Amino acid sequence: MDPEILNLIKKHWPIQSLYGLPEKFVPGKTVIPYSGPVWNEEEIYEAIHTLLEGKWLTSGEKVREFERDFAAKVGQQHSVMTNSGSSANLLMVAALRSKRLYGFTDIAIVTPVAGFPTTVAPILQNGFTPLFVDIELKTLNLDLDQVEAKLTPKTKAIMFAHVLGNPPNMDRLMDLCRRRDLLFLEDTCDALGSSWAGTPLGGFGVMSTCSFYPAHHITTAEGGTVSTSNPDIEKVVRSLCWWGRDCYCVGKANLLENGTCGHRFDKWLPELPDLTIDHKYVFTEIGYNLKPLDLQGAIGVAQLKKLDWIHKQRKAHYEGYRAFFSRYPDLFRIAEPHPKADVSWFGFPVTVTTNRFTKDELTRFLEAAKVQTRNYFAGNLLFHPAYSHLGNPHDYPNAVTVTKSTFFLGVSPNLTAEQMEYVKAKLSEFIAAR
Ligand SMILES: Cc1ncc(COP(=O)(O)O)c(C=O)c1O
Repeated sequence: MDPEILNLIKKHWPIQSLYGLPEKFVPGKTVIPYSGPVWNEEEIYEAIHTLLEGKWLTSGEKVREFERDFAAKVGQQHSVMTNSGSSANLLMVAALRSKRLYGFTDIAIVTPVAGFPTTVAPILQNGFTPLFVDIELKTLNLDLDQVEAKLTPKTKAIMFAHVLGNPPNMDRLMDLCRRRDLLFLEDTCDALGSSWAGTPLGGFGVMSTCSFYPAHHITTAEGGTVSTSNPDIEKVVRSLCWWGRDCYCVGKANLLENGTCGHRFDKWLPELPDLTIDHKYVFTEIGYNLKPLDLQGAIGVAQLKKLDWIHKQRKAHYEGYRAFFSRYPDLFRIAEPHPKADVSWFGFPVTVTTNRFTKDELTRFLEAAKVQTRNYFAGNLLFHPAYSHLGNPHDYPNAVTVTKSTFFLGVSPNLTAEQMEYVKAKLSEFIAAR
């Protein structure tokens, strides 16, 4: 590290408006964010250093390094970094269409009706049919009984996000995928660091995705990954991400005279057997450009080193809220992890089950007290204008319930003990007044 740059960064750290880390917590005045980046000088340094070095602006060696580190973290052989988690989901589903892989054109993909929209949007964007199932109220995860009951011969895959980091019964799910010959597309955007019986989430799917948006476990500002242990899938996903090109040189391999393939300039087009062309301009997929910047890779490398600590903090904060909310079983339902799951919580989900007050009243009270809360994302997607033509939301009663009655509190590592005590005191005050 260049000490001069580092000292300058330290002088300006923390950048308060951007990261919301004021020096002193003033109860009722300071906003308690539901999440936020866990960055220090290292991330800023890595970003600046990558720019100053100037070798790679778009995806280069730092993205390559991050991809290697990330794949190892989730127990897959390969990762392709993207510019967002939504892009990663889009690529994961688009890969199913590739002539080099499955060549699917008209299939159904089972998916829960409640959650984040870009877990479902790629199914529609690729011309496939979402086969919706309801969720279970206990964990908010998809209802596996309904999955079994609804499968059709057209159903080739199952795609869902582990809800706020908490997986469904993965033994049952993987058994179901094997028995019914389903590809598992694993959205791990909210679950980095969680595991099931020692296997990291993100390591179960034939492909898995992650997001590095600032609210997530680690952040590269924007960013995502598709991970897989199948090298053919990796090639297709990278190609789709990189304009559809056939060339699979990554990072400094791009500088090799003859490329990774060893014959960069060759007779690549069968219909033009005499023409020598550059492999970089041979297109095997109908692709996009969803690549990240190299500085995102650099930040990601620094972030991954903090993941174990982030996991411990998120878990400890979950436990803190669990101890509080379990005192009120008549008022709230909270999500408990399966005994085989070690959960890196994205948030602390709470469902209001009483009629003494509504979720809306409680969250408005908390927001007025400067405690940020969040809905369980879209809730039931069929209530939303973009998705309403796809079915009747009321056919999925549990998803209706969570839309009305579920919210989550933040368990970010940035949450201090003092702030958590304040949130609990505010909750007690609200409950006592009802
Ligand atoms: C479960 C889930 N999937 C996908 C995404 C999309 O990720 P991104 O915001 O990086 O596009 C999110 C939200 O951030 C999410 O929570």
